[in-house]
Amino acid sequence: MSLQSKLSVYQSQVESALDHWLPGAHVEPQNLHEAMRYAVTGGGKRIRPVLVYATGETFGVDLSSLDGPAVAVELIHAYSLIHDDLPAMDDDDLRRGKPTCHKAFDEATAILAGDAIQALSFYVLAADTNSSVTPDVRIKMIMNLAKNSGSPGMAGGQAIDLAAVGKKLTIEELEIMHNRKTGALIRSSVELGALSSPDITEDEFDLISNYAKNIGLAFQVRDDILDIESDTSTLGKPQGSDMERNKPTYPELLGLTGAKQVADELHQKAINALDNLNRDTNTLKEIADYIVGRKN
Ligand code: IPE
Ligand code: IPE
Ligand code: MG
Ligand code: MG
Ligand code: MG
Repeated sequence: MSLQSKLSVYQSQVESALDHWLPGAHVEPQNLHEAMRYAVTGGGKRIRPVLVYATGETFGVDLSSLDGPAVAVELIHAYSLIHDDLPAMDDDDLRRGKPTCHKAFDEATAILAGDAIQALSFYVLAADTNSSVTPDVRIKMIMNLAKNSGSPGMAGGQAIDLAAVGKKLTIEELEIMHNRKTGALIRSSVELGALSSPDITEDEFDLISNYAKNIGLAFQVRDDILDIESDTSTLGKPQGSDMERNKPTYPELLGLTGAKQVADELHQKAINALDNLNRDTNTLKEIADYIVGRKN
């Protein structure tokens, strides 16, 4: 099966699981539930759920047992985008080709939709009955996602990002910021897929985490490159937003060629980690290729 077909399978799997867990748009308070559905459904590459499914399958787990973690990581991501676009943060008006949540609704509703989506993510991870993981592993998964999305991970990275506006970061500082704001959730997506497997060894877990760490950073480096090289209609979000807001990015620090070189090196490290795994890692390799070559 081509990568494109596999992505479609994983994407439709997560679409129906998201629809299942999200409150109906007609349930009171309707405005909040409409905003939650607006921000979560109908758009997005779903790369984090794709990583949960692809990693889980690599270690012999069925797709339906992976729905809970796949939904959980996409919900955290969707909430992070709603808040990222708010006037107090990046102040962007377009997301996934549509007005951002605070534009389609209002700021208060967007903040609350983000809050509720975050809570729902952890609810799903705790309550999902399709997964056959032991209670101990389920707690590990909840801790993993909490850590990677909270102040040690995504929220902390976003705080560093905001504090860094207009400042010149060193490459080390930029790497820490990117690893936290974007890398952490991507790493968690891979790790939740891996934790779903009853027979993964510790060595295998370390190798897959290493893969995840490298593609997680590469993902944000590519996002910075696309902010310069792509266009608004391909991206579905405003091209040039980073420069307009004076954001520290890889191309700003290293130039486009330097940033692309970093992405290629990270890609190679991710592939090296997979080469040491004695499993069929073709799909994970193709996903690594996709992450550094993607156009949106
Ligand atoms: C955008 O993420 C924000 C970053 C963390 C770089 P994606 O590029 O995964 O956005 P969607 O989900 O496809 O819209
Ligand atoms: C976002 O980084 C990281 C998040 C945690 C949402 P960006 O601010 O670069 O993401 P985009 O470019 O708006 O999607
Ligand atoms: Mg941002
Ligand atoms: Mg942004
Ligand atoms: Mg960006």
